[in-house]
Amino acid sequence: MRTSDELRAGFRAFFESKDHGFRPSASLIPRADDRSTLLTTAGMQPLMPYFLGRDAPPAPLLTTVQKCFRTPDIDEVGLDGSHLTFFEMLGNFSFGQYFKEGAIELAWEFVFEHLQLDPERFWVSIFAGDAELGLGEDEVAHRHWVEMGQPAERIVFLPRAENFWSVGGPGPCGPDTEMYYDWGAEHGCGEPDCKPSCTRCERFLEFWNLVFMEFELHVDGKLTPLPKQNVDTGMGVERTAAILQDVMSVYETDVYQAIMRWIAGESGVAYGDSPEATKAHRILADHGRGMTFLAADGVAPSNEGRGYVMRRIIRRAVQQGSRVGLEPPYLAQLADVVIEQMKGGYVELEEHRDDIHRILAAEEERFGKTLERGLRLFEEIAGKGGDIPGEEAFRLHDTYASHSS
Ligand code: ALA
Repeated sequence: MRTSDELRAGFRAFFESKDHGFRPSASLIPRADDRSTLLTTAGMQPLMPYFLGRDAPPAPLLTTVQKCFRTPDIDEVGLDGSHLTFFEMLGNFSFGQYFKEGAIELAWEFVFEHLQLDPERFWVSIFAGDAELGLGEDEVAHRHWVEMGQPAERIVFLPRAENFWSVGGPGPCGPDTEMYYDWGAEHGCGEPDCKPSCTRCERFLEFWNLVFMEFELHVDGKLTPLPKQNVDTGMGVERTAAILQDVMSVYETDVYQAIMRWIAGESGVAYGDSPEATKAHRILADHGRGMTFLAADGVAPSNEGRGYVMRRIIRRAVQQGSRVGLEPPYLAQLADVVIEQMKGGYVELEEHRDDIHRILAAEEERFGKTLERGLRLFEEIAGKGGDIPGEEAFRLHDTYASHSS
């Protein structure tokens, strides 16, 4: 198992062989009654009513590949080799069936027999407990990892901020245990306390999270037990592909490199040619994927909510495109690269190819005109006497640049 396609297919086949029913990805637009986030951020989100016990799941065990979009990091994309807005999450879910022991056993088998990771590089973190939540450290998870053969020196206990998961506020939640890949001491900060979740370096990469969903978090911060003990897991396709392909940056994995080859072919500027080119390629590749999938789910640019997220990523991408000399219009072509690559797993891309082209091209043109107007205004003001007064500069930036920075 090496490519991203093989990883997706292998995960699905493994969990199907363990009696999990496969469900294709739900939309990036959450259900109408789900107000937790603007866009789907995790594989469990479309399944929330099953965890809460409000609806009966279609099967007691499920596995999905869920498209996800996380908005808080938009401005971080491009600056390093790991931040993404759009990504895919592989998951296995148990509704009142197996719990900690079963989830850890399945993860162990998949990690070592299918991904064939080097055990020396494998670390796990476990919930250390939290006084406010009234929960002690997760000794049960610890015992199961040790029983599977995980050496105690590569197990760490981490606090609530790291090892307790909920979908951003009230809802189903629980302590979790996370799996990390160790890139090696040569990539570490060298400090004695360097371990999974180290914020000084990128030595440890978290790639799979098993959440033991047995509580509901309420608005007042209190926990109550859910009707059943459930399992929700999330494995990042991009991060795991990076491990399998032995590259430290997700942007060096197959899916991104295919997009970057297209960018290089069109612009003559390759990924890695300069720091500026690298940043531009990353932003075009990440946002290009995001805008294509958002458009396929019917999100069109606007000045609020999801539409504003869409507008921002399109404008950021176009701005970066000009840095590597891409001549507009090209977003529809960029979308085609994404569609060709991903349509096998996401039929909506092919079905909505025309809508995707129309939505992206319209915003690309609109932004082009906005930039032209901004430039003209700038030249007019500058032509009047050199300096641009602070107030004018602010107005120009606010009107013409702030959506795109
Ligand atoms: N829901 C968990 C996560 O997103 C698995 O990390």
